[in-house]
Amino acid sequence: MSQFWKPGTERPRLIDDEEGGVLFYSTSPLSSSSSGYGFASVEKQRQRLPVYKYRTAILYLVETHATAIIVGETGSGKTTQIPQFLKEAGWAEGGRIIACTQPRRLAVQSVASRVAEEMGVKLGEEVGYTIRFEDVTNTDLTKIKFLTDGVLLREMMDDPLLSKYSVIMVDEAHERSLSTDILLGLLKKIQRRRPELRLIISSATIEAKKISSFFSPSKRRQALLTEDHGPNAEPAILSVEGRGFNVEIFYVEDPVPDYLQAAVSTVLSIHDQEAMGDILVFLTGQDDIDAAVQLLSEESRNGQNQGLIILPLYSGLPRAEQDLVFSPTPRGKRKVVVSTNIAETSLTLEVIRWQKKGIVYVVDSGFSKQRFYNPITDIESLIVAPISKASARQRAGRAGRVRPGKCYRLYTEEYFLKEMSAEGIPEIQRSNLVSSVIQLKALGIDNILGFDWLASPSSEAMIRALEVLYSLGVLDSDAKLTSPDGFQVAEIPLDPMISKTILASNQYGCSEEVITIAALLSMQSIWISARGTEKELDEVKLRFAAAEGDHVTFLNVYKGFIQSNKSSKWCHKNFINYNAMKKALEVREQLRRIAQRLGIVLKSCEGDIQVVRKAIAAGFFANACRLEPYSYNGMYKTVRTSQEVYVHPSSVLFRVNPKWVIYNSLVSTDRQYMRNVISIDPSWLREAAPHFYQHQQPNPIAH
Ligand code: CDP
Ligand code: MG
Repeated sequence: MSQFWKPGTERPRLIDDEEGGVLFYSTSPLSSSSSGYGFASVEKQRQRLPVYKYRTAILYLVETHATAIIVGETGSGKTTQIPQFLKEAGWAEGGRIIACTQPRRLAVQSVASRVAEEMGVKLGEEVGYTIRFEDVTNTDLTKIKFLTDGVLLREMMDDPLLSKYSVIMVDEAHERSLSTDILLGLLKKIQRRRPELRLIISSATIEAKKISSFFSPSKRRQALLTEDHGPNAEPAILSVEGRGFNVEIFYVEDPVPDYLQAAVSTVLSIHDQEAMGDILVFLTGQDDIDAAVQLLSEESRNGQNQGLIILPLYSGLPRAEQDLVFSPTPRGKRKVVVSTNIAETSLTLEVIRWQKKGIVYVVDSGFSKQRFYNPITDIESLIVAPISKASARQRAGRAGRVRPGKCYRLYTEEYFLKEMSAEGIPEIQRSNLVSSVIQLKALGIDNILGFDWLASPSSEAMIRALEVLYSLGVLDSDAKLTSPDGFQVAEIPLDPMISKTILASNQYGCSEEVITIAALLSMQSIWISARGTEKELDEVKLRFAAAEGDHVTFLNVYKGFIQSNKSSKWCHKNFINYNAMKKALEVREQLRRIAQRLGIVLKSCEGDIQVVRKAIAAGFFANACRLEPYSYNGMYKTVRTSQEVYVHPSSVLFRVNPKWVIYNSLVSTDRQYMRNVISIDPSWLREAAPHFYQHQQPNPIAH
């Protein structure tokens, strides 16, 4: 490749600077190569996965060690194979179950169906899965169960020692999701009570050492343990050597001023100069992905860049568009997948490895959107932030899955070596902890600050969470769960504020409406928003819009859906996501069952919307905002922390700007926007949480 810098030669230019080009030069490959394979039976395919060679070793370690840590790059077969090995070795006999957790719901479903397919069984029988509001398992038949780490935490409320599981595999531990960290802390406790339980912690990166020392017993305990004849308490670490091919890394010579533009021109020059093979571009979110897709599409329309199939990939993408990403690239074409870090791990993009087709080139912007919670302002925002070295390696690794590949990093080598942090910040240190605290409390962990954390959360965030839970009446002044409210709120698998709203709806006689709202709010979005149809969507929304706000608008949509006889045509006509509505109905049914179990009377307020708003105020009073007097641009301030916030343009209250509102969540882009907003009467706030408003601000609710 004459365009790139090779050691010992002068560094050439990739593209002219005037064209907004980017300069790269190459360094040494990532890993050693191995060979691909041709079309093969399922059994043959299994045998060709790197973990297969380690089958005996893995089973031996699990047999002899309480905790086994297995490190291997994405695609080596950890998730799909290890549970099967365990089952074949008898770990699911005698009514026991093998569990495998995943941080993401999507991954749970896809690996479960893959494993069922490999085993030739019906999904939901021998192999099943559970995610929130969806249980596809069978009590008598299921032997391998995939579930989110959050669901496993919930299961501990009924079965604190997780006694039905013989082996629990905590997968994708390197992602350090909030629930993974909490789960690891609790599993360590369970292990002491259940020496027969086996843990497998699998990770794609070398966080292994930290996790190993976390599970390592103290010297004193070690001495006690050697007296009995249980498994070795010292964790074992096994590294599965990958089957990745060489990935040649290129860095830009000088920092790029605009990674979006740089990504686009890099894709074009790869297409121009490199052999066939698909390209995976890592950007940060829907905005920059859509922009890049548009720029690339324009380029590919004007002649030279024909043959490109440009596809976005992010988590909110409609199913049909997601499927395009996974479908094979037609002959003579080159697919460009422009993705968030969703493609960094867990997702399998090389659908047809045996044809040696798939991602060969990776363009890495060096950024991703990360959630950061600020306990001082109590605002959680998605911020575009630099990725870690571990992420950068993961991204590069995606290029070497089907044959030797190339990774173009849109940052300098010096930056990578000197400035990029080795690992990301665990989610627990950048999240709102309200839900985690209530879960730990419900599991009887009273001293949360003293909990055995893999990484301690900040005390500010902890105090904020305790304060919110106290104001909701979920915790008492000794920070213990109140009875019955606290226990009931913990029982409902939703954010404590919405759970509290459901409890309050009992007093206000509007549980049916509030449960409908809760179900619809738990969907990512019930509207179909596609580029170019924003105007139509806005018009359609007006048909359902309620003067009180978005929550009541949801009720109107729900009513319309039911009246249409749950028609998909009706949804289509109204820009409503039919699948989301169907799912919401299921969630609603489950919430009704939970509510009944908690003694909540299922009752409709028959159109008396004021009580619904009061119930919402009872749960969400902490999210109250007041329109700034004389504000010309619709600026609100949060009552609690006086943050500037605005009604989101997608809200029916956008530009309506009632004086007092409560929001469901905040999103931050150029400003803090309130999503799903409802107007309220400020007197309801004092009614809902008198002590809270007294303590927070001396006199916030002046008319
Ligand atoms: O967990 P790990 O990343 O180590 O690998 P895996 O998820 O077990 O995937 C092993 C192989 O199974 C992949 O390379 C894919 O070829 C295949 N697979 C698939 O076809 N569909 C899935 N949903 C998951 C895996
Ligand atoms: Mg995996």
